[in-house]
Amino acid sequence: MKTSLVTGATGQDGSYLIRKLLSEGRRVCALTRRVSTSNMARITDLKPGVQENGSELVYCVGDLTDSPSLMRVFDEYAPDEVYNLAAQSDVRVSFDVPEYTGEVDALGALRLLECIRQLGLTKKTRFYQASTSELFGAVREKPQSETTPFAPRSPYAIAKLYAYWTTVNYREAYGIFACNGILFNHESPYRGENFVTRKITRAAARIYYGLQEKLRMGNLDSRRDWGHAQDYVDGMFLMLQHDYPDDYVLASGEQHSVREFLEIVFRKLDYDLEWQGHGVDEKGIDRRTGKTLVEIAAEFFRPTEVDYLCGDATKARKILNWRPKHSFDGLIEDMVRHDLELTQHEKKALDKL
Ligand code: NAP
Ligand code: GDD
Repeated sequence: MKTSLVTGATGQDGSYLIRKLLSEGRRVCALTRRVSTSNMARITDLKPGVQENGSELVYCVGDLTDSPSLMRVFDEYAPDEVYNLAAQSDVRVSFDVPEYTGEVDALGALRLLECIRQLGLTKKTRFYQASTSELFGAVREKPQSETTPFAPRSPYAIAKLYAYWTTVNYREAYGIFACNGILFNHESPYRGENFVTRKITRAAARIYYGLQEKLRMGNLDSRRDWGHAQDYVDGMFLMLQHDYPDDYVLASGEQHSVREFLEIVFRKLDYDLEWQGHGVDEKGIDRRTGKTLVEIAAEFFRPTEVDYLCGDATKARKILNWRPKHSFDGLIEDMVRHDLELTQHEKKALDKL
């Protein structure tokens, strides 16, 4: 049985990837870190031990800032595959904690690759690095592909740039089967509520059920290429099963603004947003009731923004036969439906008080 180590197991992608790997019959070592409140919400249903199909789940504690903990895990499990998903992944927060972001997102990847090298696993262990479309930053061409020059615009993206090149370097220098997945934004009902799509679907559902009055937003005009996390996790898996290591863009090839995403979500809940005013004074007003549902708040803007991302995943399609199954509208449906259900439960619980 192959052993796959997943860092960032408690995150959005980790929670999908663990399920995928278990369904493929792997022994999965899920790396979790110590935090003061539970971080297991997305994977509470995944119990350790042998699963029905014979696969196995093991939880191990470690932190990307702590080499000894990583060495111990590699020493104990000698994984066949490592998916490095762990990161301080919030771009805006990376401006507040730039050094920590570098520790986790840049040096964290280096620490894992050093475990492979120092423990003599270079011929055995395949390595996936969660690289990002944020590397393209102030984009130099449209759409962006594997050959587009990088121009990072945040401490997060700069840390990820270090990890990207470290992955390439360890592939070339030591012959490690190491791949970068340059993934464009991917979302799901498991997306953290700090990210814009989930913030919107969660707030819209709360407004719908009368638990919240309005939503405070940052830059509505930035444009992203949004896909569904489930499809992107399939792509990560394909990269490590291929005959040779390489770097791939995963993207939908479609692009929408934050404003458009907002309008679609609210329309699904029977609101009809009309925009009035400019800059931080702009408001989103429901045409039917005249109520202000969206306001702009300066705190959600970033010192430097990535205005436009749209990916070209031709290489992944041709070489890995990777194709996303979810449409943009399907993604929004999935998220809205989930958050309506979640909020309905919350409301029922509140009504009982
Ligand atoms: P996420 O939901 O924020 O999950 C991040 C994971 O990293 C969590 O499990 C978190 O643990 C863990 N983590 C954070 N700091 C750690 C540390 N010091 N040591 C060990 N684990 C740590 O992110 P995601 O959306 O699943 O993304 C997965 C990866 O893909 C990230 O590297 C992200 O930067 C990258 N990426 C994401 C996207 C996207 O659109 N989602 C696109 C491109 C690249 P806790 O639960 O304890 O906080
Ligand atoms: N989070 C957030 N909150 N973003 C907002 C808001 C808000 O209230 N209002 C507008 N935005 C804009 C941001 O300025 C950005 O342009 C866009 O919405 C998307 O923001 P996020 O959802 O936070 O994602 P991101 O694109 O910065 O980063 C995500 O995708 C990257 C891949 O391109 C993260 O998952 C990164 O980890 C990932 O690498």
